[in-house]
Amino acid sequence: MRTTGYAALLCWFISSAVSLYTKKGSFIGSDFLTAFEWDTFDDPTHGRVNYVDQQTALSKNLTIASEGKFIMRADYTDIVISGSRGRDSIRIHSKNAYDDAIFILDLSHMPEGCATWPAFWTLSQLGPWPNGGEIDIIEGVNLQNHNLASMHTTPNCTMSNPSTMQSTDCNAAVNNNQGCGVSFSDSYALGTDSSYGSGFNLLGGGWYAMQKDPEAGINVWFWPRNDISVPVDVRDSTVPFVGPTTWGSPQARFQTGQYCDYETHFDAHEIVFDLTFCGDWAGSVFPSSGCSPMSCADFVDQNPSAFTNAYWEINSLIIYTKDTSS
Ligand SMILES: *[C@@H]1O[C@H](CO)[C@@H](O)[C@H](O)[C@H]1NC(C)=O
Ligand SMILES: *[C@@H]1O[C@H](CO)[C@@H](O)[C@H](O)[C@H]1NC(C)=O
Repeated sequence: MRTTGYAALLCWFISSAVSLYTKKGSFIGSDFLTAFEWDTFDDPTHGRVNYVDQQTALSKNLTIASEGKFIMRADYTDIVISGSRGRDSIRIHSKNAYDDAIFILDLSHMPEGCATWPAFWTLSQLGPWPNGGEIDIIEGVNLQNHNLASMHTTPNCTMSNPSTMQSTDCNAAVNNNQGCGVSFSDSYALGTDSSYGSGFNLLGGGWYAMQKDPEAGINVWFWPRNDISVPVDVRDSTVPFVGPTTWGSPQARFQTGQYCDYETHFDAHEIVFDLTFCGDWAGSVFPSSGCSPMSCADFVDQNPSAFTNAYWEINSLIIYTKDTSS
C-alpha cells in the first residue's frame, strides 16, 4: 500500500518536474524569411487589403528583418486608388505544421488603430477549413483594448466553462462563425488594458503562449512586458524548458475531452500572422468604433498616416513539441 503510494507520488513528481516538450523551432529576425511564406491571395475575410509578396514587402520596407527583430507592416505613406484591392499589407504562414505543441511569441509591438484587424493564429495545414481547427491567439479590431482568443472548429465542440467565455460553441458553421472565445480581463499592470492594441504597445508588448495538447487542451497565456511574474522559460528560451506546470492559470482555457474531442477536431497546425483592414469584422463594427464618420474603406484609402502604428514587431517565436524526432 505504502510503497505503491510512494511510487505514485514519485511518478507524479518526475512527470510534473520534467517537461515532455523539446524545442522544435526558433524564429528570430531573418529566420522568418525562410520559414514562412507570404500569401498574396484576396483576403478571405473581405478586407480592404492588398497582400504583397515577400520581394515586394522587402523592397517597400513593409517587411524588415534584422538580427534581433522581425517587422511586418502596412503601407503608411500612400493614398490607395479606389478600385484597387486595398492598402498594402502582409499575411504570412509557416511552412511547417506542428501537432502537440507550445508556441511562445515575444512581441514588442502589434498593429493598432482604426480599421485595423490584426491576428496571430494557427490553423490546420491539412484542412480544408474548419477541419483540423483554427486557434486565434491574438485578435481584435479598431480601437479595441482587450484581446479575444477564440477557436473555430467542425461541429460537436463546445466549451463547458461558460462563465469565463464570451461564446461557447466552437462550431464555425453556427453564429456567423463567431466560434468559442475568451475576452481577456484587464487586471494588469499600470491599471491599463495591456493585452491588445495601444495599451499593449505602450508597455512594450509582452509574451503570448499557446498550448495545444490532447491532455491539457488548448490554453493561452499572456504576460505584459513589465510583469515580474513572467516565467523564466517564457522570457528566456536558452534556459531549460519546464512549461505550463509552473505558469499559473491561462487567461483562456479551452477544455477538450467530453464536449470537444481533441483527436477529431485538431491536427497539425501552421502559424499565421496577418493584418487586414475593414472586412467582415473590423468593417462591420467600424461605424460604432468611434473612429470616423467615413466608410471604413474610404478611411483606409485616404488616411495613410493613420497606419503609422499598424505593424508587428517580433523579438522571437519559439516552438516546443512532444515530437522527439528532430
Ligand atoms: C527602406 O529602408 C532603408 C533603410 O532604412 C532605406 O534606405 C530605404 O530608402 C527604404 N526604402 C523605401 C522604399 O522606403
Ligand atoms: C460528439 O462527440 C462525442 C465525444 O466527444 C461523441 O461521443 C459523439 O458521438 C459525437 N457526436 C457526433 C454527432 O459526432
